[in-house]
Amino acid sequence: MRVLAEEEEDMLPSTPGKVKIERAGAMTRQLHRCFASTGTMFLWALFLVAMTATYLSFHSFVDTSSRYFAASWGGLHWERQIRASASPRRPPGSAEGAGLSVLVTGAAGFVGTHCSLALRKRGDGVVGIDNFNKYYDPSLKKARRALLASHGVFVVEGDINDGRLLTKLFDVVPFTHVLHLAAQAGVRYAMENPASYVHSNIAGLVSLLEACKEADPQPAVVWASSSSVYGLNDAVPFSEAHRTDRPASLYAATKKAGEEITHTYNHIYGLSVTGLRFFTVYGPWGRPDMAYFSFTRNILQGKPITVYRGRDHVDLARDFTYIDDIVRGCLASLDTAGRSTGTGGRKRGPAPYRIFNLGNTAPVTVPTLVSILERYLRVNAKKNVVEMPGNGDVPFTHANISLAREQLGYKPTTSLEMGLKKFVRWYLSYYGYNRGTQAFNNL
Ligand SMILES: NC(=O)c1ccc[n+]([C@@H]2O[C@H](COP(=O)([O-])OP(=O)(O)OC[C@H]3O[C@@H](n4cnc5c(N)ncnc54)[C@H](O)[C@@H]3O)[C@@H](O)[C@H]2O)c1
Ligand SMILES: *[C@@H]1O[C@H](CO)[C@@H](O)[C@H](O)[C@H]1NC(C)=O
Repeated sequence: MRVLAEEEEDMLPSTPGKVKIERAGAMTRQLHRCFASTGTMFLWALFLVAMTATYLSFHSFVDTSSRYFAASWGGLHWERQIRASASPRRPPGSAEGAGLSVLVTGAAGFVGTHCSLALRKRGDGVVGIDNFNKYYDPSLKKARRALLASHGVFVVEGDINDGRLLTKLFDVVPFTHVLHLAAQAGVRYAMENPASYVHSNIAGLVSLLEACKEADPQPAVVWASSSSVYGLNDAVPFSEAHRTDRPASLYAATKKAGEEITHTYNHIYGLSVTGLRFFTVYGPWGRPDMAYFSFTRNILQGKPITVYRGRDHVDLARDFTYIDDIVRGCLASLDTAGRSTGTGGRKRGPAPYRIFNLGNTAPVTVPTLVSILERYLRVNAKKNVVEMPGNGDVPFTHANISLAREQLGYKPTTSLEMGLKKFVRWYLSYYGYNRGTQAFNNL
């Protein structure tokens, strides 16, 4: 905010309105004194109109540019909110130690909200950042932010590409960890809006890592990659050692690039990095663009759903992973992340670089997913079964999680049946379906 104000001062006279009036008055007097003929008066009038137009357009330029940078952040009150939200509240001498101070990017997103809540509940400090973009209904993101606020977690509205904001956050709080979940998600949307993937998953990632490597102390970084990096790999179950150099979508390619970019920052600047390859995460407060969510919506509204089938009539299958299991994997990654070793942007020694699959190890076909939903909702779905177009979705995912089990103690415990029950219960209550309905009583 402060820096902004300085920039605006450079561009504008201190009291623009006043200066204008005086100048206009002087001009009129001169006009009367020296040029009495109508011809020159006309020229002067033209000149005045042009001046006014320039002035107005300049103003609207300043307006738009300051709206672009604008900052819903900055100021003493804001800094106080950040510090309060970032302070760990574990009882002194508690078994878990002093408590972390975590910057969560994408905190108003699905996974970000759950992780932030879980951290806060065990006494860690959390500050969120999210740009509340319109990829899916922002009112759901705002509702998640309200939920976080009610637990004392503050979410800054801002973009991870805003380097000044990130620097400011690290100036105000010496974050011990960054949980980087902000991204442009979704496989098919990449064909519609490829630039958004480059903006958030490439440029945004680099902007964030720049801020992390400059920070003193440097935080340890845990971030969300994706199972989609396995791309055309068909050796199952997917293991961290398998090939990931054949992505099938731009989304996957940006996540793969993220793994290489974070490796560079680990190598040059000594940032501690943990990349987590999530496998189809689902649950309450989930993402409306994902199949389980849109199926539920359409089934309840009596609308048809499109079920993709692979070539040769093979059903698609996904290793659906329940959100609480993913949250435990994220927190375990934060807890076991070794320290970053750099200071002042220079590496002082090797820092850990890790990659883990976080899946459920029990792939379920999409028709099975639909039949579970039909049972909970007590409605038969109208299904359009169509062959999957070659738009980036892979036919099958299945995680080998032995590495995460060994090093993080990761052990998923929620079946798709159980998890969908919790999702449907949340869905009905969030979207205001009557508690008296059959569907609700069935749960
Ligand atoms: N949900 C899954 O099945 C799944 C699977 C694999 C990987 N992932 C990854 O996990 C992470 C979290 O996913 P999610 O399902 O919670 O998605 P989400 O879309 O709900 O959350 C991402 C959040 O990041 C925010 N964001 C996006 N670009 C931003 C930017 N430039 N600056 C600031 N904020 C920005 C969005 O507004 C959103 O709230 C993502 O990195 C995603 O790619 C998710
Ligand atoms: C899973 O991965 C581990 C290495 O992390 C490997 O030793 C094991 O054989 C793999 N399991 C299967 C079933 O492929």
